[in-house]
Amino acid sequence: MSISESSFFTPWADPEIVQMNRRPMRSIQTTYTDIDAARKGDRTSSPWFASLNGQWKIKRYEDVNEVPASAISDDTKSWTSISVPGNWTLAGLGDEPHYTNVQMPWKGRPPTLPPTVATAAHRTTFTVAKNWKDRRTVLHIGGAESVHMVYVNGTFVGYGTDSRLPSEYDISAALTSGKNELAVLVCRYSAQSHLEDQDQWWMAGLHREVFLTSQAIIGINDVRVDAGVVRKSLRTTPVGTLGVHVHLNVPHEQKLQRGWTAVAHLETLAGKRVGTAHSVDVPWFDSPYVFAGHVADISWDVPKVGLWSAENPTRYRVIVQLVNPAGDVVDVVPVTTGFRSVEVRKRSLLINGERVMIRGVNRHDHHPDKGKAVDVEDMRADLVLMKQHNVNAVRCSHYPNDSRLLDLCDELGLYVIDEANAESHAWNTSLCHDPAYRATWMSRISRMVERDKNHPSIIMWSLGNEAGYGAVHDAASQWIRSYDPSRPLHYEGAVFHAGWVDGGLMSSDIVCPMYSTIDDIVAYGKSGDGTRPLIMCEYSHAMGNSNGSLADYWDAFENTPGLQGGFVWEWKDHGLTQCLPNGTTRLAYGGQFGDMPNDGNFVADGLIHADMTPHPVMRELAWVHRPISVELKSKNKDPQLVVRNRQWFSDLSGYKATWELVVDGVVAKTGKLTVPKIAADSSAKVDIPVIIPHDASEVFLSVTWALARDTAWAPKGHVVSWDQVTLRKSSPVNATIPVTSVLPIDVSPQVTLWRAPVDNDGFKLMDQHHGGGMSLARWSEQGITTDDADMVESTTTITELAGGAVKYEHTVVIPKEMADVPRIGAMFSIPARFTQVRWYGNGPHECYPDRESSAMVGVYEGKPDELPYLVPQEFGLRTDCRWMEFIDAKKGHVLRVEADGCLLHMSAVHHSAHDLFTASEQAELVRQPALNVHLDIAHRGVGTASCGPDTLPKYRIAPGEYTFAYVVSYR
Ligand code: GAL
Repeated sequence: MSISESSFFTPWADPEIVQMNRRPMRSIQTTYTDIDAARKGDRTSSPWFASLNGQWKIKRYEDVNEVPASAISDDTKSWTSISVPGNWTLAGLGDEPHYTNVQMPWKGRPPTLPPTVATAAHRTTFTVAKNWKDRRTVLHIGGAESVHMVYVNGTFVGYGTDSRLPSEYDISAALTSGKNELAVLVCRYSAQSHLEDQDQWWMAGLHREVFLTSQAIIGINDVRVDAGVVRKSLRTTPVGTLGVHVHLNVPHEQKLQRGWTAVAHLETLAGKRVGTAHSVDVPWFDSPYVFAGHVADISWDVPKVGLWSAENPTRYRVIVQLVNPAGDVVDVVPVTTGFRSVEVRKRSLLINGERVMIRGVNRHDHHPDKGKAVDVEDMRADLVLMKQHNVNAVRCSHYPNDSRLLDLCDELGLYVIDEANAESHAWNTSLCHDPAYRATWMSRISRMVERDKNHPSIIMWSLGNEAGYGAVHDAASQWIRSYDPSRPLHYEGAVFHAGWVDGGLMSSDIVCPMYSTIDDIVAYGKSGDGTRPLIMCEYSHAMGNSNGSLADYWDAFENTPGLQGGFVWEWKDHGLTQCLPNGTTRLAYGGQFGDMPNDGNFVADGLIHADMTPHPVMRELAWVHRPISVELKSKNKDPQLVVRNRQWFSDLSGYKATWELVVDGVVAKTGKLTVPKIAADSSAKVDIPVIIPHDASEVFLSVTWALARDTAWAPKGHVVSWDQVTLRKSSPVNATIPVTSVLPIDVSPQVTLWRAPVDNDGFKLMDQHHGGGMSLARWSEQGITTDDADMVESTTTITELAGGAVKYEHTVVIPKEMADVPRIGAMFSIPARFTQVRWYGNGPHECYPDRESSAMVGVYEGKPDELPYLVPQEFGLRTDCRWMEFIDAKKGHVLRVEADGCLLHMSAVHHSAHDLFTASEQAELVRQPALNVHLDIAHRGVGTASCGPDTLPKYRIAPGEYTFAYVVSYR
């Protein structure tokens, strides 16, 4: 008999069955026996905690209806082993990862299931410590995709849904002394999958930790800590308000005696007490009518409290003890907290009363080898890298993460939007009206809030993503507003479907659109309409070589009332390590596992590579988010610097500034920049620290700010901000005629308009290159598909100069009907012996005309760039170069290209545009020994059209006649 035949219920097929026998959600994970252990907070030191992570046995069945009843008790000797946490879709058991964006992997209206529902029996054994007897044993399953059923010693103990939140079961009644058999059946898909249709890999398995805890029969089940701030005026020191609510487990058949007390005190993280301990009696009841539950409520004020913010994440610890009538301490629970306030007022989101700009990113759980089973070191690595790039906010897109991620955000200082695991993208506007899904919707949202309520880092609750807008949202939001009035709500669907100005007010306190144009957000800001600030929940789609106009967005955010930043989409590419039959591995995207239907490489749209290597845009991101800016005040005789502290709670004492004077490309002088004390969110004028030389044509001053001390996320010396101001500018000069030898190679430049399309130009891997921007399709129609520029009029004049140098001059005419081409430039290749590149222009990192604000003019040198993007495409440009040199390091020879009367965008890489275009993955790309050099007088911005607005018109190439020239010499 199969599992499904042996039971009347098939809960996986019924969206209304949200759980069976699952315990209500709570935030604490374990209790301790003494204050010292509680203070250390190491769960493994508590006698009441036992991890079940490790090697389990697994058997996979093609369909849930084929799982035999014996799967929960069979001998597992012959079964395969798997790591828990882990995804069995990465374990070679016959189910591969499957990537879809909007569409579901199968057809059919919710709650239709796929033709077969692969199911895996996960098995392990455990023994329970002797002192756990006469207590309650609770099994914690951190996350199971999609739904799971739990059996202990053959007894069914419960069923849980919501793959991104824990489920807990009281398994006491099923335990035996000695070895216990635990079986968890996990269905890969279920009726719930229709509400977990996020744009990511469909995986499967027990992807978060599994553990047991032991609870006193009468003991602490949960603690809620509400830490707030009141401030009478801007000048008075803030007073912290603390509410500690201790929830007891009391068996329903028992009447609690009088004399139980809950005692709570506050201390610093170092363990120093703040104020005295507070104690209250736990309510018992004589009259059910007035009984408010076994919850001990304690509250008090904390004068002169240090506030929590992303800049200064000051945390405290609340220690709660439960004392029985005999005076014994039964349980000790630590809760880490932080005092801060969040409110929306007059179109501003205020944190501790300040209008903090949200410098955010969207983060998914992803690891190239572990899939969804990221561990705490992986989480820390993500967050540390964010902090190092001046990110101050994370949206948990699109589901609650492991609570240890929130602990890390509390610790490191990151504002969090915690988002419920509710996305019905394929059935965007209908599922939210389906009564069969109402219970799961409410449960997902309320359970998230109940679990995560104690984290100071969470500044907003999000109801989910791309799941229409219906009564269920308003119902859930009213529940949250009543349960937790301390945090505003966020839901993009409410404003998308009901309007920015006054739509969806019940469910969103923020206008939080995705991918809107700069014109649209500025129009909202300037209109003064509505009461809500606009913070983009997603913008600047980071797919491949992307994020054009990031600085334009920030210009709008910072200079328009009502606009307050946003969250870039998204943090990391979701490439997955895949072993190929020939023994090699690759980072795979949708379709490469044979997963059909799929959405290809749309899954690779991160600011960083799946292996954590930052894409070049991370420099631009750090720059637009920088905490300190330096501008030139007046360009007249006595110019001054304006130093702005772009923080809201700290002065600049945490940083040290240095300057460099760059004279005609040479760092002529350096020094320390001394600045007066500059308070948070204010600025000061500072004299230029050096005399500007008169005999130079171009003079720049670069100012760099580095950490003065080690922090939790970067060592002393880490650069947080940089700016370069132009002290003297000259128009592009004519090339010098160098003393030179005869050119040893025939450069033969060819005019070209083609670039290997970036993802924003169009999706080359999709039929007819549809998807994304339409440029690629348009270029193909116009015949711009190769390096050849025959379709336009062009001339090249070659002049041999005295001494062997050669001047090339090109004229290219772009007719009206062909406007908006990829580039206008010349290209040639040079032999492999030129292994180093040096240039005078923007750098040091890759930059494009619409992504160059973070670049500084200077002379830089390095090896030719290697492709930083998962799918081959254009890369490696440096804008506004005065010259570029290719160095034969062995022989000391240099081939020099010097722009003549113009600035040129240049790149030199080991791949041709043609090869980059035709390769669908890195493995298909053969690195040529020769260097392909491009010199462009114009290059189209990269934009963000793979999801969002196309390149702004000012970064596109207009029709007209373009002339450019350069001199090639050799020494
Ligand atoms: C949004 C969505 C994200 C992601 C993004 C495009 O519509 O919320 O999950 O799909 O577009 O990459």
